[in-house]
Amino acid sequence: MAASSTAPRPGRLIDSLDEAASALRSGRLVAFPTETVYGLGADAFNEASVASIFTVKGRPRSDPLIVHVASAGAAEALVRLGPGGLELMRRLTASFWPGPLTLVAPAVPELPSAVTSGSGYVGVRVPEHALARELLQRAAVPVAAPSANRFGHVSPTRAQHVMDDLAHHPILVLDAPPADCCGVGIESTVVKIDEQAGELVLLRRGGVPEASLERWLAAEQGGAAQRFTLKRMVSPGMLLTHYSPDLPAYLLRGPQLLAAPPPGAGSAPLSLGEAVLLDFGGRLAHLRPAAAAYRDLSERADAAAAASGVFEALRWAEAQHAAGARCVLVADVEAAARGGEAAECVPALADRLYRAASGVRAELVASPGTGGAVAVWLLPPEASV
Ligand code: TXA
Ligand code: MG
Repeated sequence: MAASSTAPRPGRLIDSLDEAASALRSGRLVAFPTETVYGLGADAFNEASVASIFTVKGRPRSDPLIVHVASAGAAEALVRLGPGGLELMRRLTASFWPGPLTLVAPAVPELPSAVTSGSGYVGVRVPEHALARELLQRAAVPVAAPSANRFGHVSPTRAQHVMDDLAHHPILVLDAPPADCCGVGIESTVVKIDEQAGELVLLRRGGVPEASLERWLAAEQGGAAQRFTLKRMVSPGMLLTHYSPDLPAYLLRGPQLLAAPPPGAGSAPLSLGEAVLLDFGGRLAHLRPAAAAYRDLSERADAAAAASGVFEALRWAEAQHAAGARCVLVADVEAAARGGEAAECVPALADRLYRAASGVRAELVASPGTGGAVAVWLLPPEASV
């Protein structure tokens, strides 16, 4: 849970890039905006600083960190690839950097094992956000940075989100106007270059859609990329429970009210009047009057727009606890998404919502003889999206 309001709050918001850069160089932790989410940064070669990231977040040391750098050349200096792998990396970075793509490759031995979690592999990325790039240039050190939330909680897309989660630690948080940060809104896509197997392994869906990587591979004629295929796996950090708001969240299967609980339903611990509805494309709009609170992630059913605001919306939803809400019900984004290019963002968005709900689904059931009350019935989790 968040630190209590009486706890000391040594964390500090700052505006100065120079202060942020010199703090990183002297071993402090600095949270900074990127085009995806806020990161909690440390000098990647300072073992004590990297170790403190895990302490501050409460993150298991088995989960490696992404290293952020200002240029593709600086990223190359952190990895050890053969000629084929390096050529592939160069082609990928020329197409997708700066931007929300993390490349995982064998690490140079000088990198502290806390960064790689002893895996021998490192994730590297050049972010696109202007403040992040300027900070990396001024700091002139590679910056290891996970998302700047407490472990398991909703990822932060505002300086205030970082303060809410972590200001009881002596971190600095580089401020940026909300309109000017984290426009992609969900984390980078993580892809491992497996040179031996000739595979690009998709470890986490994110800001670069899988469809876009597939198109890229298909369009690459000649050269190293031709020898690689795209494969899907799950990275060490992709737990079933992740991005969780401080209220239990459930995935609403359908927009309609059922007359009776479906077969296999577990229990009905809540009513619709205690639920915050997170809608998509107006699918649940008819239920709005009966719910505790309501917000639509994108009335136009645009998955890219929804991804941009999804973490902010989950944090807003958990704050409705103060007004008596006891759960969050999330619309089925896969069922409602509009076609076109934005639809390519649906899998990454659905992944975040699936994990925010730990895969638990719910149905709404009209309770006869209760004057229109609607019960929220929970169903067992289904296979991952
Ligand atoms: O957009 C992002 O990627 C943000 C911003 C701050 O750059 N960072 C971020 O970091 O999301 P984090 O630590 O919250 O998630 C990193 C993910 C985890 O799932 C982790 O397991 C995976 O990337 N990862 C990082 N390094 C890896 C490695 N060497 N091998 C395999 N997976 C790795
Ligand atoms: Mg994270």
